[in-house]
Amino acid sequence: MLDNPAIPKPSNSFSLSEQLPKDKERQAFLVDVRQPARSLSDIILKDETQAQVIRILNEYRKSELLHVHGLLPKLRLLMCGPPGCGKSLCAEIIAAELHLPMLYTRFDAIVSSYLGETSANLRKVFEYARSGIWVVLFDEFDAIGRSRNDATEHGELKRVVNSFLQLLDNFQGKSLIIAATNYEGSLDHALWRRFDEIIFFERPSQSEIRALLSMKLKNYPQKEVNFSRTAKKLRGMTHAEVEWICLEAIKSAILRDSDAVTQELMDEAIERQRSRRRVRDAANDRQLGIR
Ligand SMILES: Nc1ncnc2c1ncn2[C@@H]1O[C@H](COP(=O)(O)OP(=O)(O)OP(=O)(O)O)[C@@H](O)[C@H]1O
Ligand SMILES: [Mg+2]
Repeated sequence: MLDNPAIPKPSNSFSLSEQLPKDKERQAFLVDVRQPARSLSDIILKDETQAQVIRILNEYRKSELLHVHGLLPKLRLLMCGPPGCGKSLCAEIIAAELHLPMLYTRFDAIVSSYLGETSANLRKVFEYARSGIWVVLFDEFDAIGRSRNDATEHGELKRVVNSFLQLLDNFQGKSLIIAATNYEGSLDHALWRRFDEIIFFERPSQSEIRALLSMKLKNYPQKEVNFSRTAKKLRGMTHAEVEWICLEAIKSAILRDSDAVTQELMDEAIERQRSRRRVRDAANDRQLGIR
């Protein structure tokens, strides 16, 4: 890990957290500092997405060369796609590959019910980000990025989007800023063109599910698990759901003192995941019914 001026070297973690920006009213921390560890070998990406990510890493690593020609590397990225398909993981991996710490913004803290406080919080985050070189992740960014034309949104939210745009425009330095969202459809067009690259994440294809199965099962022996047949049963699931099933099957094997994951254990885990889905979908339907 390269030395980063952004991270003071405190004598204990308490003094480091003392310097992190906080919400005025609730005194909640607005950011977390994380040292990402996972690498490109820990993510299954479509070929074109992988090429996009490698290009971003390459541009960043060769920024000096680009500067000589008056050019800048891509520093503002937007990641879109359904939950559990690797947006946060990919942001973490970009940080790890570039040996940068990650400044993870906490939207639960940033969005304040006090008038004007959300924009003030955003300003504090950008100000703090200026103190060093990071990958700054605005996760679940839709919380502030919903369209300014959305009639249901009140004036405060419009002001928040405007201040985010201004802060993004004025931000200088070598940090990479990544915003991640599930709802790209509801994002304002003015926001879209502020980003140097937009990366789409989708649910895995059959071959990606097979690759995911071998990645997630690799640390435990397997006996007669048919990857192709299992992948068919997992059609339409997200990467996170496939991971959950693999871990569930491994845990079952351990708990039952079995020396390998079997097809039967995989099938049981798939069934449990399906019933988790049913519970989640029913809860979503109830929520929609209430609205
Ligand atoms: N493409 C992938 N390859 C390998 N593992 C993945 C992938 N996507 C997700 N995972 C696994 O699922 C976990 C959750 O995924 P992640 O948090 O990156 O999803 P997300 O797209 O950010 O979802 P959300 O929209 O809910 O924030 C990851 O930490 C990782 O272990
Ligand atoms: Mg995420």
